[in-house]
Amino acid sequence: MSMEYRFAQSRWRKRDGESLGIRSEIVTDPVVNWATDFSHMDPQWAADPYPIQDELRQRCPIARTGRFGGAWLPTRYGDVAAIAHDPESFSSRSIIMGNFRPPRELAPVGGSPPICSDPPFHHDARRLLLPAFTKTAVSRHEQATRAYCHSLIDALEGRDVVDAARDYAQHIPVRVIADMLGFPVQDGPQFREFAQDTLEGINRPAQERVTRMSALFYYLLGQVQDHIGNPRDDLTTFLINAELGGRKLDVSHVVGAMTLLLIAGTDTTASAIGASLWHLARSPGDRARIAAEPELLPTAIEEFLRAYAPVTMARLVTRDMHFHGVDMTADDWVLVSFPAANRDPAQFERAGEVIIDREVNRHAAFGLGIHRCVGSHLARLELRVALEAWLARIGDFTLADPAAVTWSAGQVRGPRTLPVRISRARR
Ligand code: HEM
Repeated sequence: MSMEYRFAQSRWRKRDGESLGIRSEIVTDPVVNWATDFSHMDPQWAADPYPIQDELRQRCPIARTGRFGGAWLPTRYGDVAAIAHDPESFSSRSIIMGNFRPPRELAPVGGSPPICSDPPFHHDARRLLLPAFTKTAVSRHEQATRAYCHSLIDALEGRDVVDAARDYAQHIPVRVIADMLGFPVQDGPQFREFAQDTLEGINRPAQERVTRMSALFYYLLGQVQDHIGNPRDDLTTFLINAELGGRKLDVSHVVGAMTLLLIAGTDTTASAIGASLWHLARSPGDRARIAAEPELLPTAIEEFLRAYAPVTMARLVTRDMHFHGVDMTADDWVLVSFPAANRDPAQFERAGEVIIDREVNRHAAFGLGIHRCVGSHLARLELRVALEAWLARIGDFTLADPAAVTWSAGQVRGPRTLPVRISRARR
């Protein structure tokens, strides 16, 4: 089947109304033409999306695909910003692009408020979460996070080669969010599985996807029930007691917000920590400079966030329209690539280079517009503490086998496996 045919066919389905909530053809063939048939699930994209994005920005700045029932991929900062700032034309009712579109009636509340909510509901749903994620509020988690990072490094004792992603980065955000929500810490591996399923399982058959998502829903429902019976000082109890417009939240809102925190708070931050360690493992100059000038770390972290921004979000087009040179149709997906925006040379000097003392760095890693990340202070805290502990304890480290490094596919990109050779721990 030709690519053009697939695209046309998905358009026809859309006019037929079939695409609303109903599966489109699941295409998993390798991508041949990134401008007309892109897929963020393609192994080439997962391994190294930057040359593809750079080439598209020159050749076809808003690429398209017939996969997922029809989608667009902007790669210029200006286009990404315009979309992120226009929730009327680009709905958030589903922010993970897949082969199924949630029904329009789901807006403006969406399945996981506030990330899947549109105005006007979005504003209040977001405001509810803000107090738990201020700089002061998240600073209360610093000590426990640091102790946990050190315990993970203690467990590496005696090994020359360790997996900086699996043995370190991937555990940290899961522990922090489990503590905040008041979930059993031993359920950490299950949370990672939930997050990876949600983000990377989009090409699974419909029934399997529903079954897996239901497992997450029922896990969270169990936690809500447990917290109703045994209220405690945590975010779950806070959400259960929270009010919106003078009424308690529906249980579906509570579970949706918990889903969001569990998914948004774990793979994202683990990916950012992992990508930073990957960069440092292959950049002896930057390692030496940060060791000599530790005060540079916060600036370096912002640069890692810019250059290796882990999160891409999706939107659904709300009406047929001409947008920045392309004709979009209602219910087309748009992949809002904050990572591609962050490497646009029209926005950042030497955009393709990692400059750990970059002075002006207004990157879009945490998004732009009304949905900008609520957890950015927490994410920055975790990144700083994780890197400080690693750099203090691990004498030096390099990639043990560059070919063995693997990256996640889909909308959150970070190292899944990251074998590094470490020298003796310092303390
Ligand atoms: C390095 C780590 C992280 C990155 C790169 C990141 C990135 C993002 C981005 C790009 C958005 C915008 C979504 C959109 O436009 O649709 C977002 C939203 C959000 N993030 Fe994060 N995030 C990170 C960590 C966290 C953490 C640790 C939490 C909390 C535990 C969190 C909670 C949220 C929430 C609640 C929203 C929705 C805000 C809204 O819709 O108003 N994130 N994040």
